[in-house]
Amino acid sequence: MKLSEKVASMALSPIRKFAPIAKEREEQGVKIYYLNIGQPDIETPSCFVEAIQSFDEDVIEYANSQGLDPLVDAICDYFESYGMHYEKEDIMITNGGSEALSMVYNCILNPGDNILVPEPYYTNYDAFVAMTSGYIKPITTSPEEGYFFADAEKIEKCIDENTKAICLPAPGNPTGRTLSLDDIRVICEVAEKHDLWIIADEVYREFVYDGGEMTSFGMLPEFADRVVIVDSISKRYSSCGARIGFIVTKNKDMQEGLMKIAQGRLCVPTLEQIGATELFRLPKSYYDEVCAEYESRRDAAYAEISKIPGVVCQKPGGSFYLMAKLPVDNAEDFLLFMLHDFEDNGETVMFTPAEGFYATEGLGKEEIRIAYVLNAKDMARSAELIRLGIEAYNNRK
Ligand SMILES: Cc1ncc(COP(=O)(O)O)c(C=O)c1O
Repeated sequence: MKLSEKVASMALSPIRKFAPIAKEREEQGVKIYYLNIGQPDIETPSCFVEAIQSFDEDVIEYANSQGLDPLVDAICDYFESYGMHYEKEDIMITNGGSEALSMVYNCILNPGDNILVPEPYYTNYDAFVAMTSGYIKPITTSPEEGYFFADAEKIEKCIDENTKAICLPAPGNPTGRTLSLDDIRVICEVAEKHDLWIIADEVYREFVYDGGEMTSFGMLPEFADRVVIVDSISKRYSSCGARIGFIVTKNKDMQEGLMKIAQGRLCVPTLEQIGATELFRLPKSYYDEVCAEYESRRDAAYAEISKIPGVVCQKPGGSFYLMAKLPVDNAEDFLLFMLHDFEDNGETVMFTPAEGFYATEGLGKEEIRIAYVLNAKDMARSAELIRLGIEAYNNRK
């Protein structure tokens, strides 16, 4: 018996693959700071669990395939509060942003089609695209340019006759790159000129720092028919395990296609949808507090990382990731050194080597991604450990 070529072409997540080594070291008594995964430690707002606790039906029934009405209404109100108007039928609730991406790709891609994605990019896009037998064509960006890609010429060079969409996370994972409304317009105009879909992955929408503007592809209604927004409660409300995401689009054909897939998978968990509804009713001050916390973590990490001689790192404006090009020959080797051989006062650190975030062979070898998901003190210590580790690693060689 054989597995499909699709599955054979897929790889294990570079974000998770070093976890067993870290665990082994931990068992030897070394403290590890985990900066490899976008799992926030911020407390999930209590209204989520309280809403589920007050569920008093006798049976947990299937929900409808689109998603529970109160949740869909709450999401429409949430967008309205930012001046973006959506009707109920423009929303589809999904099992996390992950299923949202998978459903959208399946609606758009035939075998051999491609979507453009700025690299470095969120590696799980690879898995979802591979399941369609399509592929990702990267728009290459660099740490020296702060991972900037909203340039018409740069994007157009990558388009070919099999290109169906431009897909991008904004703010970015792994880059933390944010987009201004002007950047969004540039991308939309290219998409319109070449008749492409735009898949705007906005799961980090509110995570914008330094007083920067929160933007969305939903803010330019003239492009609404080609824009498909992918969203999730995972990061916004620190609810990764709830697995509630959603798709927002005014394109009726897309909604019809999505519904066919949604009916096939029946529904999204009923109780989690009830909890999620309350999250969307939180006041805006919730985001202000959470963003202030992440901003202080970013500042703590950046202050230490930028002290490393020879490092290339521009302060990221959003999401909760920081990419850095380090003065090491190979970031994966460096991580293995940190996990196997390095410690300072019984502590070391785990991060993600960035090569796996690139589709282009050979890129990202010296880059790492750190997720600032620990408090500011721990972020500063983790970044210090990276700095000390580089010295030890390069002296060893
Ligand atoms: C850019 C981006 N999109 C989508 C997701 C998936 O989110 P979810 O937990 O909602 O499936 C993630 C998770 O890390 C992400 O970083």
